[in-house]
Amino acid sequence: MDRKDQIDTFNRFTQVSRETIKGLMLYEELLIKGNKNLNLVGNSTINHIWHRHFLDSFQVIDFIDKNQKTLVDLGSGAGFPGLVLSIVAKERKIPLKIKLIEKSKRKINFLKEIITKLNLNASAIYQNVEDEKFYFNDDTFVARAFKPLPKIFELMHKKAKNFNKIIIFLGKNGKDGLLQASKNWDIKYKQRMSVTSKDSFIIEVSKLIKK
Ligand SMILES: C[S@@+](CC[C@H](N)C(=O)[O-])C[C@H]1O[C@@H](n2cnc3c(N)ncnc32)[C@H](O)[C@@H]1O
Repeated sequence: MDRKDQIDTFNRFTQVSRETIKGLMLYEELLIKGNKNLNLVGNSTINHIWHRHFLDSFQVIDFIDKNQKTLVDLGSGAGFPGLVLSIVAKERKIPLKIKLIEKSKRKINFLKEIITKLNLNASAIYQNVEDEKFYFNDDTFVARAFKPLPKIFELMHKKAKNFNKIIIFLGKNGKDGLLQASKNWDIKYKQRMSVTSKDSFIIEVSKLIKK
C-alpha cells in the first residue's frame, strides 16, 4: 500500500480530525528523519508507518476505560502505541496521562521532542523497568514488541502488584507463548484480532496468578 492509501485507510478506520492527521504527519516526518541515527523502527516498516505503526497503535484506544487516569507504555521505543494513543486522547478530550517508559536515552529525547511539539499529555520516563529497586504505582499497562510474554508476566507479578489491566500485542508466535505461559500462570484475558495483521492479536489481561 502506498502512503496515500495508508493515510486513506487510517482516516476511514479512525475518523480522526484533520488536525490529528496533521499532528501524525509531523510525527511521521520526525520519525523518518530520526530513524537514520536512532534506529527507531525497522527499515522494512519505514514506508508503512501509517499502517504498521499508527493504525496498529490506534486500534487499542477503545480498550482503555474512559475514566482511566494513567496508562503506562512499557518499552515505548519510538512511541508505539503510547504516543499515538496520546495524540488520539487529545483529540477526544480524554483526560488520560500516558507514561512512556524507555531505557534508551536517545529514544527518550525523541519522545520528548514529539510530546513538546504536539503539546501532549504524556511523559517520557528514562527507566530500565528491570532495575531491582524499581516498582510501578500504576494500574493499567500496554506492551507492544516489548518482551516475551513470560517476561512481561514475571515483571507485572513482581513490580505491579495492583495492576488491573495489561494490554499486550502478540504476533504469530503469540498463541504458543500463551500456551506455554498458561502452564505457569492462571490467566484471565480477553482476546481480539488485530486489524492490521491476520497473524497478530491483542490480549487484555485482567488477572494473573502464579500456579
Ligand atoms: C522492539 S522495541 C519496541 C518499541 C515499541 N513498543 C514498538 O512497538 O515499536 C522494544 C523497546 O523496549 C525497550 N526496552 C527493552 N527493555 C527495557 C527495559 N528493561 N526497560 C525499559 N525499556 C526497555 C527498548 O529500548 C526498545 O526501545
